[in-house]
Amino acid sequence: MDRPIGIFDSGVGGLTVLREVCRRLPAEDVVYFGDTARVPYGIKSAATVTRYALEIGRFLLEQDVKAVVAACNTAAAVALQALARALPVPVLGVILPGAAAAAAATRSRRVGVIGTESTVASGAYVEAIRAVDPGILVESRACPLFVPLAEEGWADHPVTRTVAREYLGPFRAAGVDTLVLGCTHYPLLAPAVQEAVGPGVVLVDSARETAREVEALLRERGLARDRRRGSRCRYYVTDSPERFRRVGERFLGRPLEGVEVTAV
Ligand code: DGL
Repeated sequence: MDRPIGIFDSGVGGLTVLREVCRRLPAEDVVYFGDTARVPYGIKSAATVTRYALEIGRFLLEQDVKAVVAACNTAAAVALQALARALPVPVLGVILPGAAAAAAATRSRRVGVIGTESTVASGAYVEAIRAVDPGILVESRACPLFVPLAEEGWADHPVTRTVAREYLGPFRAAGVDTLVLGCTHYPLLAPAVQEAVGPGVVLVDSARETAREVEALLRERGLARDRRRGSRCRYYVTDSPERFRRVGERFLGRPLEGVEVTAV
């Protein structure tokens, strides 16, 4: 089917999901929406983030998308059900795929989850992991400083390593063997996170798991586009397209073209 996939986030972070979706489904067109005028979502209430998500969902429908991916962990944590109810196309979020992968990976049945304040407060990862296996103990922690550090490009910086040790030390003590990177930005900091929790801990990248799920869903419903040809990505942001392009290229790992400013 020739219609595009819609992917949205509060800003640049969801480009980590877009990157994985493009890697798995190179023939698909994508419309990406970054709500750069209203970022961050991670410190806002569930009601506000849900309102934003519904507005964006409607905008993506106007672009004739065949499925919507809530790439923002915060939006997926608090607004996925409202979105699924409101939109007439399949809706997928990053929480369930990451949770399922963590439940499958843990041997000690002690899993750590890191994310924004709102994601952690929602309890969405805890609920999703324990829905797979109620015997799993889940420790969660908000790591708000990771977002600006990733946007600053400080993946391999002593400050980031210090912050990571500070945030993640308790996970070592708790004996977790699996840690969910429950925020769009965290995959960029994976080496510092790994160093802080130790080499024996499996890091679950929600972006990668979600791309796997998007592929499965499209194939299952006969919505995938298999024809090999150049795919097209269009980007819409609500503010500061220049910054989106500059910072976003690091998240996407390739040049970013065709960014338009829009209102929702
Ligand atoms: N995209 C957000 C998330 O994954 C992080 C940035 C924000 O707080 O908006 O939760």
